[in-house]
Amino acid sequence: MNWVYIEDIGDFNGQDVEVRGWVHNKRSSGKVRFLVLRDGTGLLQATAFSADKDSPLFTKFDELTHESSVVVRGRVREDKRAPGGFELSIESIETIQIARDYPITPKEHSTPFLMEHRHLWLRSSKQHAVLRVRAEVVKSVRDFFDGRGFRLMDTPILTPSACEGTTTLFETEYFDQKAYLTQSGQLYNEATAMAFGKVYCFGPTFRAERSKTRRHLIEFWMVEPEVAFAELSDVIGLGEDLVLFVLERVLSKRKLELETLERDLRPLERIAKPFPRLTYDQALPMLREKGSKIEWGSDFGAPEETLISEIYPTPVCVTRFPTAIKAFYMQPAPDNPDVVLGVDFLASEGYGEIIGGGQRIHDPDLLERRIREHGLPREAYEWYLDLRKYGSVPHSGFGMGIERVVSWICGIKHIRETIPFPRLLYRIYP
Ligand code: 4AD
Ligand code: MG
Repeated sequence: MNWVYIEDIGDFNGQDVEVRGWVHNKRSSGKVRFLVLRDGTGLLQATAFSADKDSPLFTKFDELTHESSVVVRGRVREDKRAPGGFELSIESIETIQIARDYPITPKEHSTPFLMEHRHLWLRSSKQHAVLRVRAEVVKSVRDFFDGRGFRLMDTPILTPSACEGTTTLFETEYFDQKAYLTQSGQLYNEATAMAFGKVYCFGPTFRAERSKTRRHLIEFWMVEPEVAFAELSDVIGLGEDLVLFVLERVLSKRKLELETLERDLRPLERIAKPFPRLTYDQALPMLREKGSKIEWGSDFGAPEETLISEIYPTPVCVTRFPTAIKAFYMQPAPDNPDVVLGVDFLASEGYGEIIGGGQRIHDPDLLERRIREHGLPREAYEWYLDLRKYGSVPHSGFGMGIERVVSWICGIKHIRETIPFPRLLYRIYP
């Protein structure tokens, strides 16, 4: 018999098929038994009829428990009332394993308990929906850049130097040298951009962040485009297009998952170009008016990001942050070296920063001075300085955190649910 996946079941109306999966739920009423099957691609209701409650089929059915693994064979029937619009009339059930005492029950569990059982929690409808959205976000990001002629460049995970400051570096041994887990592929991307024009890297990045927040992971995935000859405004436009592309794709292809998550789609559907642009200096009085105590020179915290998103219904691009709070490679504004040509995209509805980037210093002397001022070891950046010696050009790029975007689109308040196995300050199991 034809083994089919639940998400394709509509193509097999009236045919006999085999579904391989797990018992999600079951109930009986008189002469009917209902089995809700889960096969990883969706849920399917399967029904068995018998006048005899001791029939062999019912005996098998009655032994099944939550998460038992089964192969169910039967005929696909269209049924408007069934979730998904199709049902399976069971002809036979083959039990592979009876699961005993599955720890996650329909009752409420604490988050620590669920995190401890993350390997099983992934099977629940909500987690399943979030991770399907994640897969769609990742695919749409790749389609976006591939479709615009960007070359994929895989940058290294083991690196000899810091990109985003030395306080969040994970150190590891590298034979008789030290190495760090990458915080960002950017510096390498700047080299590949000079070789290929426009590039992107996409991979896991690591930050030994001591802060325990809803928005920080220790290991997260970042997509980073870098474009030779591009200035700040060019990459703001690129980021805007990327966010809209991802949003539209997920809204059209993962609507069912967003419904499972009970996400209010209206705020997402309203989002359009252009996103408001705001300089740090323009944002400050607006924040103070809303009650923030922020002083010039301080970075935005979660409260400031939330306040801004209360003002605008779409993501906001904040530019020209104080030089002192930004990374060493950021290009100072030509009219005011106290601020840099950097940009942060703050998501709507208080989800905070989803993109960070900007224009890079292309002047060799200034870059060398910055490396010194930031106390970075020059030897480790010799190759990076070379990029400014041989055909240096203005160039810009950014990084978009995948988990932040998934949180925002799914309406999930805590980032830990947006990656299959989150690495958190106090958790590395399972
Ligand atoms: O703003 P960040 O630190 O920028 C960079 O790393 C640049 N080198 C990127 C570039 O220009 N190529 O990080 C970029 C994005 C943030 O906007 C956020 O979405 C995400 O990465 N991010 C995190 N996501 C989850 N957990 C963390 N600890 C994160 N830190 C940053
Ligand atoms: Mg940032």
